[in-house]
Amino acid sequence: MIGAWGQRRVENLVLRYTESTRADERLVPYDIWGSQAHALMLARQGLLTEEELRRILAPLETAFQDYLAGKLILDPQLEDVHMNVEQYVTQAAGKAFGGKLHTARSRNDQVLTDARLYVREALLEVEERLCQLIDLFLRIAQEHIETVMPGYTHTQHAQPITLGFWATGHGFLLLGDLRRLQRAYETTNRSPLGACALAGTNLPIDRQLTAWLLGFDSVETHALAVVSGRDFIWEAAFALATLAVNCSRLAEEIVLWSTYEFRMISLADEYALGSSIMPQKKNPDLAELARGRSGKAIARLQEVLTLLKALPLGYHRDLQEDKPPLWEAFDGAIPTLEALSALLETAQFHPERMRQLVQENFSTATELANYLVQKRNVPFREAHGITGRVVAALAAAGRTFEDLEACAKALEAEGYPIAREELRRILDPLEAVRRNRTEGGTGPESVRQMIKELQWQLQKARSAIAERRNRIAAARERTRRCVQGVLQGEPLATVWRAVGLDS
Ligand code: ARG
Repeated sequence: MIGAWGQRRVENLVLRYTESTRADERLVPYDIWGSQAHALMLARQGLLTEEELRRILAPLETAFQDYLAGKLILDPQLEDVHMNVEQYVTQAAGKAFGGKLHTARSRNDQVLTDARLYVREALLEVEERLCQLIDLFLRIAQEHIETVMPGYTHTQHAQPITLGFWATGHGFLLLGDLRRLQRAYETTNRSPLGACALAGTNLPIDRQLTAWLLGFDSVETHALAVVSGRDFIWEAAFALATLAVNCSRLAEEIVLWSTYEFRMISLADEYALGSSIMPQKKNPDLAELARGRSGKAIARLQEVLTLLKALPLGYHRDLQEDKPPLWEAFDGAIPTLEALSALLETAQFHPERMRQLVQENFSTATELANYLVQKRNVPFREAHGITGRVVAALAAAGRTFEDLEACAKALEAEGYPIAREELRRILDPLEAVRRNRTEGGTGPESVRQMIKELQWQLQKARSAIAERRNRIAAARERTRRCVQGVLQGEPLATVWRAVGLDS
């Protein structure tokens, strides 16, 4: 038997089953930062003397240095990151000092503090990577405002669109993910510290102070709600799941478009793999795995939701299982964004092939019907019927809209003679796209407008990321300044004044 809680000794099996050091590894620096802020607050509130504070902050500083040097290895026998860090402090400072660090704190609010500090930065990292992918779509769009290609519904040729329209389409969908990540950040960046086990404490703590030292935007007020809730976890998991789904849809298009049947895109040799038996194969493995792995992100969201669904308010050990799924979702997001960006960036689009496809399969039939509506005053339903019969007649004869003679004859037979030149203009995919003036439609003007909008949104997102990064850095610096002051023997009053308190 090993381990001990109070008077009770604990079986090895219990520790093996319950310890969380693997998942907690990435929380180490945040557990230290949270402990520094907590100890500083305790001292300011008169719950630690200056001497006690110094004795606690000194080993926390060495712990951080050890962590940076890769020397702080979590011991599973100590259950989790919190007990590891506390034990580190106690070993160095002795029980009389180390034993005071956990005053007015529970692992329940502590783990949430650590996790939120980690998650907010992980969110920013994904946001940054996502901005790069959106940027890539912007570049594709700018280059291909008038590159026509088939637009699909039901995976069947529908109407002509442009490659620029397609690219901005992905840009806008990804912008949705960016917004969800930003909202998850807002939810995440609120301080749980001081909720303690579930109810707050009768000791005179200052939650605003720890929140400020840690760079949280505000205090997550309700102690029971904050300990019970996992909004920040599932909002982040949701944002990562929708991002994975959008990536998967892009991946699917890359897979399809690079087939011999589509031939609208070719992948760079360096970004495709081969077959062990078929020498001619060039496979889109990156895209396939991006598609395949999206399932994981979806499942991780479901895992988190399922975890919470039957838990009464309060802390339950079940809640420990909130982190591995979120970590996995984060770990999957960046490599997928990188893979898809690299794949797209090096791939070659084939405008000729796109043009051929859009031309030979009646994709401007709706435009022809619209012409009858607009210029010949035919009710749309009837125009739909006339055009449908024209298409059927041409298809039966093995012809396409490129055969203007045949098309004009079929229209004449329906009672609607149209001059050849006019018919050519109606049926030409590029002219059709140019005539589309719908706000948000595939027309060049609209695509230019959407490029501008995307650029603006991207710029806004990037400066929001930079601002958040700066705030986090400023909070780190604030805590560091306090810690250094205390360690160098500055009186506390001087320390507080140095960071702008009591000025
Ligand atoms: N490892 C735990 C978790 O992740 C930390 C909190 C433990 N709290 C407790 N009351 N046992 O949730």
